[in-house]
Amino acid sequence: MKRGEWVVLGLVGALAVAGVVQNIIHHEKGDQNVDRGVPFYTTATPELAREGSDLIRQNDCRQCHSLWSVRNIMQSVPSPSLDGMGDLRSEAWLYQYLSSPHPQTLLPSRLKPEYRMPSFAMLPEQERRTLAHYLASLHVKDWYLEETKKSEYEKLTGKDDYKK
Ligand code: HEC
Repeated sequence: MKRGEWVVLGLVGALAVAGVVQNIIHHEKGDQNVDRGVPFYTTATPELAREGSDLIRQNDCRQCHSLWSVRNIMQSVPSPSLDGMGDLRSEAWLYQYLSSPHPQTLLPSRLKPEYRMPSFAMLPEQERRTLAHYLASLHVKDWYLEETKKSEYEKLTGKDDYKK
């Protein structure tokens, strides 16, 4: 074999050993510390997910809100995340909120007017219904629910004294 080939073989060998070691470590941790993954999920049909995501994009909701834990780097407003919204609010409430000419009558704001939740009452009814339906399909896994409620409380009030 040429020298280059030996190097490659050595690397492959080292990777294999590393893989086995990692497997053992992972396995040991695995029992007490299950990898719980991303805590957010949706129960939307693919069609609703597509329509909902389109509306969220068209209306620039991400200018202020994060979704799927992804935060817009330009986002400067401390607004609640939309992840898990379906476990915090009902679909009927969400529809009312999006339809209200003054959303702050339903949910008071602590922010300056330009950062507050805008009214989406001008959207066609069907789009508001789709948005509410989609938002209500955004859930959070049980083990992360308290964390989500805490984060919503902190965003809405600006305080860090959340109690269960
Ligand atoms: C200009 C920034 C901004 C934009 C754009 C915006 N929001 Fe908001 N939103 C907020 C803020 C801030 C709040 C918290 C209440 C407040 O301060 O008015 C909020 C609150 C909410 C809530 C209630 C959150 C809770 O904890 O109950 C929902 C639902 C919501 N927004 C959905 C949307 C959707 C859907 C869109 C796009 C159609 C959108 N928002 C666009 C800033 C924004």
